[in-house]
Formats: sequence, structure tokens, C-alpha cells
Amino acid sequence: MINFKAEIAKEISKILEIEAQEIQKSIETPKDQTQGDYAYACFRLAKELKKAPQIIAEEIKQKIEINPEIIEKIEVVGAYINFFINKQTLAKEVIEEVSNKENYGASEIGKGKNIVLDYSAPNIAKPFHIGHLRTTLIGNALYKIYKYLGYNTIGVNHLGDYGTQFGKMIEAYKMWGAEYNLEKDPINQMVDMYVRINALCKEDEQVLERCRNNFKLLEDGDAECVKLWNEFKDLSMVEFKRIYDILDIHFDSYNGEAFYADKTQEVIETLEKKGKLIESEGAKIVDLEDAGISTPCIIQKANGSTIYATRDLAAIMYRAKNYDFDKCLYVVAYEQNLHFKQIFEVAKYLVDEKYQKGLKHVAFGMVSLPTGKMSTREGNVVKIEDLLTETIAKAKEIIEEKNPNLETKEDVAQKVGIGAIIFNTLSTVNIKDQVFDWNAALNFQGETGPYIQYSYVRTNSVLEKAGYLPNLNEIKTEELNDEYSYNLLKTIYNFQDVLMQVTEKEEPSILSKYLIELSKTFSSFYNENKIICENKDTQNARIYLTYITGKVLKQGASLLGIKMPDKM
Ligand code: ARG
Repeated sequence: MINFKAEIAKEISKILEIEAQEIQKSIETPKDQTQGDYAYACFRLAKELKKAPQIIAEEIKQKIEINPEIIEKIEVVGAYINFFINKQTLAKEVIEEVSNKENYGASEIGKGKNIVLDYSAPNIAKPFHIGHLRTTLIGNALYKIYKYLGYNTIGVNHLGDYGTQFGKMIEAYKMWGAEYNLEKDPINQMVDMYVRINALCKEDEQVLERCRNNFKLLEDGDAECVKLWNEFKDLSMVEFKRIYDILDIHFDSYNGEAFYADKTQEVIETLEKKGKLIESEGAKIVDLEDAGISTPCIIQKANGSTIYATRDLAAIMYRAKNYDFDKCLYVVAYEQNLHFKQIFEVAKYLVDEKYQKGLKHVAFGMVSLPTGKMSTREGNVVKIEDLLTETIAKAKEIIEEKNPNLETKEDVAQKVGIGAIIFNTLSTVNIKDQVFDWNAALNFQGETGPYIQYSYVRTNSVLEKAGYLPNLNEIKTEELNDEYSYNLLKTIYNFQDVLMQVTEKEEPSILSKYLIELSKTFSSFYNENKIICENKDTQNARIYLTYITGKVLKQGASLLGIKMPDKM
């Protein structure tokens, strides 16, 4: 497809002797259509060329030789050169591209580049609660979008499956295992055991000592401890996988913290060899004062065990070696900002610079419910599964009311409920805190998942009403000359650019906003134009535009992890 921006940049570059790529970066897309589709401001050239920017703009306009099939009009307004795309060309390009491509907007730009995405990572024997919702959904969306742009993606679930708490869990099981039926409602039972043993440890130093010993035994590969630990892990995984299935999320690796336990030695040795390990009250640390981080990174505790950070460092070494990554993204809450600052700094001593530079913390804010905390009245955290079940039930009520005769209510409610959660989660900028409000998320008229699904369904019903899909070669693009059709075509044209922006900023919310815009633009097109009308050519072109809009809506939503119902 023609890259209009690049074409403009190429031509300006010939006049200015500035790299086309540089120019392309400064080409703007005015909000107001009367200022053209693209604009180039000449202020920045004034100093160098020793001329008023207005004059430079005028001169460029005079000299530029741009194919009128690409740009049909150029206007100078003050220091700006405004470019107007040839509407016919745009319409033709967009319609052909969307029809012919199975994956419109996909690209090969990432070919040969490896992207590791570390996301979700719930903790074993603990509930999978809404504190893990954003990492799971942001990570999944980024994974899909990177893949779509041709990158080789490796999705890693760095499970929290290691640490001294497992020594306690093992002790609890040894003491009271018979009282619990872990098969039934395993996580709640395990949480219960954990709370109980913690209380006991506070009272009884001997119990605590046994717990510590269990962890040591686990680290040394003691058969019974390993067996119990595996059992806790398996039971938790059953619950986690149930949620991943509902959300249709898959990982390439479940190498969690435990996987790195035997790889931390290399971290310690490498740091030692480089003279970076300092003794501090029996522990081994790396001082980061010089890097402006006042808290040192603990590598090994006084009792010889390693910590979360050490295992993350081992993971960095492992991923560099095994995945040869261009980027390794950590989709983790901003609460862990310090942790990532520390380990990324220490990583300078462990991996090649190119890997160290590829490490990036994709931080995000907290989620809470309108009632305040993430907790329910009973003081328990809100589990993702409960949130899903409840939202699906509410979606069902709404659908029941809106469309009582719909045959596929269950399936639609599932898609709408899940879509509402996903969209709501991905519609705020990562770093902002977020409130999960059912009414807002399920509002069919708001900027929500259901609204996008509804827009898609509307494209479907137009096609159904028409009863046919015209042939591509029958479409007369000049029929799409009105402002509403043009806005829609232009929005569709921008799809790939939006996906690129998502990966530049690691911000799926850019795609969410885009889908709202596409839905709204479609809605204006639909309201302002009669699609089924007298003139067959006009009708064909409009039906076809409706069809490709639906295609892009569906594709875009699927990149966020949202499925489209055919009806609702
Ligand atoms: N399990 C951790 C938590 O729940 C998140 C792990 C994130 N990934 C990482 N490589 N540290 O907070």
C-alpha cells in the first residue's frame, strides 16, 4: 500500500537535502481535515536557510514534484505546507488492500527480531487476583501485536513458584495435610494453610525453624519436599489455566522463578569475578550508588539463599543466551519500579550491552473496584475468575433484555463480558491507576468493548440486509467521495501505523482508542449515508466499505484479545 507520508518525505528530501526518514518523523497529521491530511512545518529550517519559514514553505510548494495521483493538493498556510491525499487513490488502495490481505495491517518489519515478553506471572498457592489482570491483558495484547508485525515473540510466564514461603507451605502440609482436601477449591485451601502456619510461626520459633529447614531441603532436592512443592504447583496451575483458557491466552514458556534456582550460582560467580559483590552484614550485595540508585541490590542473603532479584538476573542471562532478544519486556506493576531499576543496572555486568539495552520495564498502575480496595467485604482479594463470571452474568442480563430472541445468548454473553473486561483494562494508559466499574465497562453506548462489538455487529447486519457482497472489481471508488466515507477510509488506512505506535510505546491503549475512533467514524458514515439506496454503484461501494470496516474492527479487537459476536 502507498505510504503517503513517506512519499511526501521523499519529495521534500530532494529539495532540502535532509534524509527522507528525518523529514518523515516531523510530518504531522493535523486534527482538522481542512489543514490537509499531512502537514510539514518549516520553522525548524529558518535558522539554517536564513529565510522566513513562510518563504521556505512557499518555495517548497513551488519546487515539489509530487505525483497528483498521490497528493492532489498542496496549500501553504503560514509556515505550514498542507498536503491533501488523492481521495480516489486512497479509496482504491485501502479497499484493495483490506480485501486481498488475510491479515490487513500485518507487517514483516519485525522479521528476524526476537521479543521476550514477561507477563502475567501469578504466584503459586496464592489467588490469581485482579492485581494480575493488567499484566495478563497488556502482555497478551503486546504479544499479539508484535507477532502481527512480524516479530518472533516469546511469551514467558515467570511464575512466582519459589521462595521461603514454600518451606512454610510444606510444614503446614506435613502438620495438617489430612485436614484439607486440596483437590476441592485448592487455592483457598492453600491460602488458609498459609495463613495458619504463618500465625504459628510467629508464636513458635521451632516451627519457623522447621519451615526454614524445609526450604533448604527443597533447594537441595529432597524427594518429599519436591513432591509436595510440585503438588502445590500443579494444583495452582489447574486454576490458572482455567482462567487462561477463558481468556484464550497462551504462553511459550512457564519457566518461573524455580527454574532459575540452579542458575543463580552463575550470577554470583560472574559478579564476584568482576569484583562487584560486596559483603554487607553477611549478605552479598551490589552497590548501585554510582548509578544513582541508593538502595543496593541484594544478591545473596546472609543465610546463603538467593532472592527474587537474583533469580531475575539469572533469567536475564538465560534469556539473552537462549532467546537472543532484541527486547525483553517486563509487564509488571509500577510498585516494582525499584526492583527493575536495580536488576537492569546489575545486568550491565552480566550480559552484553545489546541485551542490557533491550531490557524494558513496561510499568502499569493499580486496579481497584469502585468500593475502594481490590478486596471484597470479607477482606479477600477479588479473583479474576470471579470478576469474569460476574461480568459475563451481567452481560447476559443486558442481552436478555435487549435481544430476548437471540439464539446464541450464552456465547454472546461470554464474548461481551470478557470483551468488556479486556477493553476496559486496555483503554487506560498503562501507567494510570484504574477503577473497574461494571456499569461503565458494560455500557453499550460508552467507549467500551461492547460498543466496539456492537459496531461490528452493525456492519454484519448491513451486509445481511443487503443480502450480497459486491465483487471487488465492481466497486467504483469515486462513489466514496463524501466526507464520511473519506474519514472512514482514512481511519482504516491508519491501522498499521497505529499498531507500530503500540510497539514503539508498548501501549495497547493506543489500539483501544483507535477502535473507538473507527467505530465512531463508521457510525457517522452509517448515519449520514443511506447504504441501501437507489443507485446501484453507490450502494455497492457503501456495502463494500461497510464490509472492510467490519474486517478491520474484528482484526483490531482480536489483537487486544477480544472476540466478536456475529450478532448481539
Ligand atoms: N510474580 C511476580 C508478582 O506477582 C511478578 C513477576 C514478574 N516477572 C519478573 N520477571 N519479575 O509480583
